[in-house]
Amino acid sequence: MNLLVTGGAGYIGSHTCVRLLEAGHDVTVIDNLCNSSPIALERVQELAGRSLRFVQGDIRNRADLDKAFEGGIDAVIHFAALKAVGESGEQPLAYFDNNIGGTITLMQAMEARGVTRLVFSSSATVYGQPDHVPVKEDAPLRVTNPYGRTKLVMEDLIRDWCASRPQLSAVLLRYFNPVGAHPSGRIGEDPRGVPNNLMPYVAQVAVGRRERLQVFGNDYPTPDGTGIRDYLHVMDLAEAHLKAVGYAAAHAGCEAFNLGTGRGYSVLELVRAFEAASGRAVPLDIVGRRAGDVAELTADPRKANAVLGWHAEHGIAAMCGDAWRFQQQAVAEE
Ligand code: NAD
Ligand code: WQD
Repeated sequence: MNLLVTGGAGYIGSHTCVRLLEAGHDVTVIDNLCNSSPIALERVQELAGRSLRFVQGDIRNRADLDKAFEGGIDAVIHFAALKAVGESGEQPLAYFDNNIGGTITLMQAMEARGVTRLVFSSSATVYGQPDHVPVKEDAPLRVTNPYGRTKLVMEDLIRDWCASRPQLSAVLLRYFNPVGAHPSGRIGEDPRGVPNNLMPYVAQVAVGRRERLQVFGNDYPTPDGTGIRDYLHVMDLAEAHLKAVGYAAAHAGCEAFNLGTGRGYSVLELVRAFEAASGRAVPLDIVGRRAGDVAELTADPRKANAVLGWHAEHGIAAMCGDAWRFQQQAVAEE
C-alpha cells in the first residue's frame, strides 16, 4: 500500500516506518519536526534499505496535507500530536489546537481524496483511573488531564466520522507504556530537556547525563509501594501498526484495541532490570507522588491478540537492553 504516516519522524513513528518499509509498503511522512529531527528519517531509510518520501509540514495546514496526499494514499497512520501530560495542563489550548484541530484537518483531507482507512495513536490515558486492572477496551473512559482529553475527543470524532459512511475504517490503538529502541541503537527516544517518562530518565541517569532518579511515591497499594505499568517494546508496537493497517484494509467500521503485554512492572522492578541490562547503577531517591498518577495500569491485550493476530514478543530485558544501546550511541554522538 501507499501509506501516509503523520508524525513519522517521532519516536514511535520512526520505528513503525522501518517496519512498514521492510514489509514492502511505500511510505510518505508528514512531520513539522516540532519534537523530532530529520536525522531519524535518514536512519529509518538506512535501517530499512529503502527510501521514503518526506513532506516537512503541519497537519493543521491543509496545503501541507494536500501535498502529502499527492500521488495517491491508501491508508493513513496518524501519530502526529503533542504528548506531554504536564505541559498540556499549562497550555491546554495548544494541545486542543494541535491534536484535535490537526485531526479534523486530516480527516477533511482524507475525505476530499477519498481515503477511507485510518490507524490512530490513542493511549491508555483514556482509561484515567481504572476500576479494575488489567483494563479491557470496554472499560469506562475518563481522563485526568488535557492531553488525555484530546485523545478521548479524537477517538470520538474519528468514531463519528467513521459511522458517516459504510466504507470508512478506523483502528484506535490504545498504547500502554511504549519503551525501548530499535535493536541497532540507531533510532530511539531521546527527549529534549528533562524526560517526562520513566525509561528515558532511567537511561539518562545510567549514562551519567543526570545524577539521580526521583521515584514518585512508594506508598501505593502495590507489592513494593511504587507504581506499576505495562511497558511495551516499541518494535512490538511497530508490528502492531503493520497488522492494524492490514485490518483496516479488510474491515470497515471503527475498533479500539489495547496494546500492551498484559504484564506489569513496578518502578523499582524496571530500575533493577535496567541496571542488569546496562551494568550501571541507577541511584535514586524516593520523593512524593506525582499528581495524576495511578497505582497500577496494565492492559488486557486479548482483543488485539485474537482480532489483529498481534502479540507483544519482547520482554523487559530487551526493552532495557535496546534503550541502553540507543542511549549510549546518543551520548557518543554528542
Ligand atoms: P513524538 O513526539 O516522538 O512524535 C510525534 C511526532 O509528531 C513528532 O515527530 C512531531 O514533530 C510530530 N508532530 C506533532 N505535531 C505535529 C503537527 N501539527 N504537524 C506535523 N507533525 C507534528 O511522540 P511519540 O512518542 O512517537 O508519540 C506518537 C503518538 O503516540 C502520539 O500521538 C502520542 O500521543 C501517542 N502516544 C504516545 C505514547 C508514549 O508514551 N510515547 C503513549 C501513548 C500514545
Ligand atoms: C511510569 C511510572 C511514575 C518518571 C505516560 C502518560 C500516558 C502515556 C504514557 C501518552 C509511574 C514513575 C516516572 C520519573 C517516576 N503517554 N516515574 N519517576 O505516567 O504511566 O504514562 O506515558 O499517551 O498518557 O501519562 O508513564 O513513564 O511517566 O511513568 O517514578 O522520573 O514511573 O510515577 O509510576 P505514565 P511514565
